[in-house]
Amino acid sequence: MDRPYSLGSTLLGCATSATQIEGSPTKNSWYDWAEESGRLKDASSPKNANQHWQRWREDNRLIQEMGLQVYRMSLEWSRIEPEEGHFCRQAVNHYRAEIEDLQKMGVKVLVTLHHFSNPSWFESRGGFLLKESPAIFLRYVTYVVEAIGDLVSDYVTLNEPNVYVTLSYFLAQWPPAKHNPGQAVRVMRNLVYCHLTAYRRIHRIRAERGFPGRTMVGFAEHLRVFTPAQPKDRPLANGMEYLFQGLTEAMYTGRLTLPLGVEAPLGDGRFYDYIGINYYTRIWVHGVNTAGRPGRPVNDLGWEIYPEGLGILMRHRYKRFTAPIWVTENGVADRDDKYRCRFLYDHLRQIAESGLPVERYYHWSFMDNFEWAEGETAAFGLIGCDFQTQKRTIRRSARFYKEIIQNHGVTQPMIDHYLR
Ligand code: BGC
Repeated sequence: MDRPYSLGSTLLGCATSATQIEGSPTKNSWYDWAEESGRLKDASSPKNANQHWQRWREDNRLIQEMGLQVYRMSLEWSRIEPEEGHFCRQAVNHYRAEIEDLQKMGVKVLVTLHHFSNPSWFESRGGFLLKESPAIFLRYVTYVVEAIGDLVSDYVTLNEPNVYVTLSYFLAQWPPAKHNPGQAVRVMRNLVYCHLTAYRRIHRIRAERGFPGRTMVGFAEHLRVFTPAQPKDRPLANGMEYLFQGLTEAMYTGRLTLPLGVEAPLGDGRFYDYIGINYYTRIWVHGVNTAGRPGRPVNDLGWEIYPEGLGILMRHRYKRFTAPIWVTENGVADRDDKYRCRFLYDHLRQIAESGLPVERYYHWSFMDNFEWAEGETAAFGLIGCDFQTQKRTIRRSARFYKEIIQNHGVTQPMIDHYLR
């Protein structure tokens, strides 16, 4: 039964990433990848995307119109460090202007430092396979936080390290397209180091410089529920879960687990200020399988829509790490906007009724964008985008979300209007 609910003090907003929306040439691994024909589902390229690099003012007005309270955006490493060791002040100033504009309209900004794409120079040297990659990443992080740390107190160091490793080094679906478990382990281990060192560095810089606001650093973890179809599938479900989202626990605690290692390179500690969860779907385990439960509603990409999963995962992570929860991504590929209102209602209800300290919710995504290997074929936006004309269209679900933000919850008239 649908019923009204209140979202208490949870701040509501949206998330995006630079490579997926900016367009405008830069030398990064995804721009290079899109050139290699046949690699993407369509003939698109992140070179086009939403042309947000030029149109950010227009997009910020839409963010204002929607009444978003929080906004998660990423910085494009390849613009900030286009050549190894050479940093571009102009690029940083561009981001500063964008962030200042958002803040003027009362939107709190969360900055992601790495969201899947690498500068071409870094990728061609070996990327996160390199032993020195944590030091290279830390140099970039240091530059950024010194340059924008007065404006920004909230950071995501890495977006979904587990998805990046799985698709780039295990399933060969993303650049550099490797099927190499040994390399996957090496990259994951280096990413853990990247997070641990960046966590400490961001805190240090902001404290030493006396930058204002409470520093909040974490990473955005892609979590799925792995449900065994039958009791006999339990061991496999546990194994898949451990390999996909168990190894990243080292990013919270500082201690590696096998097969990454057993040591705590920076000592045992607490390397997070919030629990960052990206949630989309679950895996129904009956043999090795990557799909959801048969017969359940699915999004345009065939992913099961399973709202209860958000509640399950928030409870699990909170029990283990006890910190404020930030749902750093949650959304649905739904070009015709058939499910998005229901999706929002059901997932936000998990938050409203969880009894957990969920401080923030970032819907993925603000607008349709370049969806990695799916190109322009998957529509995750509250705002639609015609990539030819660049026309933005406010979907019905965006109006629903706007009302949720205004009312800080869902009322009976909203249920009658949007969910019937
Ligand atoms: C990623 C986004 C992506 C979304 C939808 C998340 O895994 O962080 O970049 O667009 O899922 O697939």
